[in-house]
Amino acid sequence: MHSDSNRPVTIITGASRGIGAAIAERLAADGHDLVLTYREREEEAADVVRACEASGARVLLLRIDLADLDAASTVVPSAVAEFGAVTGLVNNAGITGRIGSFLDVDIDETELLFRINVLAPIVLTQAAISHMATDRGGAGGCIVNISSSAGATGSANTYIPYAMSKAAINMLTTDAAKEFGPVGVRVNTVSPGTTRTEIHAVAGRPNAPDERAPGIPMRRPGEVHEIAGAVAYLFSPDASYTSGADIRVAGGK
Ligand SMILES: NC(=O)c1ccc[n+]([C@@H]2O[C@H](COP(=O)([O-])OP(=O)(O)OC[C@H]3O[C@@H](n4cnc5c(N)ncnc54)[C@H](OP(=O)(O)O)[C@@H]3O)[C@@H](O)[C@H]2O)c1
Repeated sequence: MHSDSNRPVTIITGASRGIGAAIAERLAADGHDLVLTYREREEEAADVVRACEASGARVLLLRIDLADLDAASTVVPSAVAEFGAVTGLVNNAGITGRIGSFLDVDIDETELLFRINVLAPIVLTQAAISHMATDRGGAGGCIVNISSSAGATGSANTYIPYAMSKAAINMLTTDAAKEFGPVGVRVNTVSPGTTRTEIHAVAGRPNAPDERAPGIPMRRPGEVHEIAGAVAYLFSPDASYTSGADIRVAGGK
């Protein structure tokens, strides 16, 4: 299914639900063809594919556990084999680890968290830039890293390793934007605040979005489409000079 059009081709990790699914549906509506990855929620992933196809997108769906870095390294080559070229990457998939005191942090869980939140984005970003860079025969491209407001503010008493992983991804954006701006690759961050998804239930606090609402200046959690809108802006022609930026979508927090 090689691309014979000028449609952008964008990879989104963790697109079966939550913020990743909303980004997929928004970029499909904006005219992207998509490569979507998920870990295990096959039915939800299939629903997202159907919704994107209904907007006219061609979609390649890949089941990839990003904790397996060898598997992560196959995503960009699979996308290129399917579409001929890749112009965008959204490093979205992430986990928080269990909520609790830093003193109770489990090191095995933290190693897994860093694989998924930091090492897999490094592997994917290396492969994407190698393909996109104009000094390597590429046509340039756009990368968006989904961080968290916790990456700048910290997350004491909640999940410090998660905040550390997001600080790391912030620096990936800052430095990759500098190193690869000259070869046509823009790299930016979107940092959501508390957003209504299932990530909080997995962390052990399903009601966290509503519990945190009184501490958010806008007095409510974010909704996934509000995060997707910021990502869509970064892929739009309006963002043609935007690189190394961090758009915080956190209700004023
Ligand atoms: N929700 C928030 O309040 C919030 C706030 C700030 C930042 N963020 C960031 O936004 C991003 C998306 O979060 P979300 O709330 O949408 O999360 P979510 O609802 O829990 O969805 C996570 C997505 O990532 C996938 N995923 C999880 N572990 C994976 C693995 N090992 N390999 C491959 N894919 C994996 C899941 O696939 P399956 O469905 O197959 O399991 C799913 O598609 C994350 O980077 C998160 O840190 C979220």
